[in-house]
Amino acid sequence: MNKPLDYIFPNPPEGLNLGALDLDNIPQHVAVIMDGNGRWAKKRAMNRLKGHKAGIEAVRETIRCASDLGVRYLTIYSFSTENWKRPQDEVVGLMDLFAKTMLAEVDGLHEENVRVRTIGDLSALPAETREAFEEAWQKTRNNTGMTLVVAVNYGSRQEILNAAEACVRRALARAAEGEDPTVALTEADFARGLYTADIPDPEVVIRTSGELRLSNFLLWQVAYSEFVITDTLWPDFDRYEFLRCLLAYQGRDRRFGAVK
Ligand code: IPE
Ligand code: IPE
Ligand code: MG
Repeated sequence: MNKPLDYIFPNPPEGLNLGALDLDNIPQHVAVIMDGNGRWAKKRAMNRLKGHKAGIEAVRETIRCASDLGVRYLTIYSFSTENWKRPQDEVVGLMDLFAKTMLAEVDGLHEENVRVRTIGDLSALPAETREAFEEAWQKTRNNTGMTLVVAVNYGSRQEILNAAEACVRRALARAAEGEDPTVALTEADFARGLYTADIPDPEVVIRTSGELRLSNFLLWQVAYSEFVITDTLWPDFDRYEFLRCLLAYQGRDRRFGAVK
């Protein structure tokens, strides 16, 4: 971390103690299920897309705050493989919002030394959206700061199927070389086929809007992650909410199956 806490959090609300944050225990990888945009809009009698647009500011603030605190990977769940079931105008609006936002934000992210990448099947996205993500990746790929992982058209079951397929393909290749294809598979062998092959598992998963489920997010990777659920709807999420989530994480007793 290279910025003082009172710079990152200039106006902490009453009762939120910045000093309680253990700077030696900042998670390397925070994954966020950004939920509640639709309900935020509904409360204001607005179109759901207005909720998604309002959520952009929360994304910006979370990225900045995580990067300033020294988080190495921030994964944001932006569109699931199941989200295609939504009304056509919402899907089209979201894809357009992703493309425009990525184009508008990439220079600022680059200045922050953030590296942008995606997980998920980009091939099914409209060309403009796919290209915006690809350009952001190209531009920022050599940065050395936080990696922003955008999960877009991401589905964990699909990812796991892909990894299984990769294992089968490797076994067939071994058989074709005359080697024994029935080599025992390790967790590391399998994880090589996941989108997240070169990313550590998240220590913490944050979900907004009070929902208590994973919705097909990082099923393999969250085996020992801590879950922090907040009732805040995503567009109302800000750096202070992020701090509260980190404090909740730091208060957990992580045992990984052992006795402490
Ligand atoms: C999360 O907000 C954003 C996406 C899934 C793209 P929602 O759109 O799911 O908001 P709610 O859950 O309907 O309130
Ligand atoms: C999960 O939220 C997906 C994203 C945040 C992109 P959803 O709103 O789609 O999840 P469900 O339908 O409530 O489980
Ligand atoms: Mg939702």
